[in-house]
Amino acid sequence: MILLNPGPVNVSDRVRNALLQPDICHRESEFSELLADIRQKLLKAFVPGEEDEYTAIVLTGSGTAAVEAALMSSMPVGKRAMVITNGVYGQRMSSMILTQRLGTPDLKYDWGVAPDPQTVDLALKQHPEVHTVAMVHHETTLGMINPVKEIAEIVDRHNRVFLLDSVSGLGGETLDIAGNKIYMVAGAAQKCIQGFPGAAFVLVRKGFMERVMKYPKRCWYLNLANYYEEQERGTIPFTPAVQVYYAFREALNELLEEGVENRIQRFQGYAATIRTRLEEWGVKPVLAPALRGNTLTAFYLPEGCSYQWLHDGLKQSGYVIYAGQGQLEEKIFRVANIGALTSQDIDGFVSAFQTTVARA
Ligand SMILES: Cc1ncc(COP(=O)(O)O)c(C=O)c1O
Repeated sequence: MILLNPGPVNVSDRVRNALLQPDICHRESEFSELLADIRQKLLKAFVPGEEDEYTAIVLTGSGTAAVEAALMSSMPVGKRAMVITNGVYGQRMSSMILTQRLGTPDLKYDWGVAPDPQTVDLALKQHPEVHTVAMVHHETTLGMINPVKEIAEIVDRHNRVFLLDSVSGLGGETLDIAGNKIYMVAGAAQKCIQGFPGAAFVLVRKGFMERVMKYPKRCWYLNLANYYEEQERGTIPFTPAVQVYYAFREALNELLEEGVENRIQRFQGYAATIRTRLEEWGVKPVLAPALRGNTLTAFYLPEGCSYQWLHDGLKQSGYVIYAGQGQLEEKIFRVANIGALTSQDIDGFVSAFQTTVARA
């Protein structure tokens, strides 16, 4: 089955076979070596040349665990977080903050509308109590790239902490973490990194990590200070998904061999094929080209096709697409193009799409 949902993705045989390593105890040196290797490779991939400025903290869990760990660990006493939202994943961060009553009103934009840097500037002037500003990098809701550079500049000018959810961005979308002085970036193994679900991570600026160590614990299991302290000693606070970590390391090896930039280009090429071919057949993308990323496209459903019908027809041909969310659930479908795919897989999908829709 070819997975065209935005993770979990098809993995290579090499990554799959890495699951089959000898059983090890996570309190033994073999695990310390594996963990150190993953941490070092994450820095090499995502903050190249600035590895000394950042630390990578690895968690067992899905991407949401990394996002919540980053948010909750980023807050000193008496301060607030502001979430910029324009999709489901921004809204999820906002719910996390709301649960702990740590928020200011969100800077809320409609789905598909880019956050406006001037409004962020004004909000930060009006809210000196805001310490952490959180945003999603690639809003998977519609496959939209948010203006990271512009927002990062403003957050930095106001001397606040910028936290980015790049769970669906890292490895597939360009991101200059160090150059944009982003303090915390949350990511996960099972999307553009092409690993299995179950391993997630947060990249943190080292200087900021020293401050985080002094902040109050706002959650227990996901407290990053705890993870950091233990990982610096080569261990981990709780039982990790050991086999998934082996595969994660292999996926990082593959990413570094392919090169992050080449991987981004590979995904860009796949997205271009899907967009060009489907648009030729009159299927309309939801976002204007300038707002789209490289890894997922949201399209309006063709006339006379329900999502379920389209999904089931394509699945019979071996391709899994993805539904829209919330208010767009009945109107759109999404096609991701990440994972260990080839251009033949993408060509196969567009042919199957044409055949399926012709039957409508
Ligand atoms: C931008 C973004 N953030 C967070 C998540 C949550 O990740 P997970 O489902 O691994 O918890 C996703 C999942 O699609 C995502 O796309």
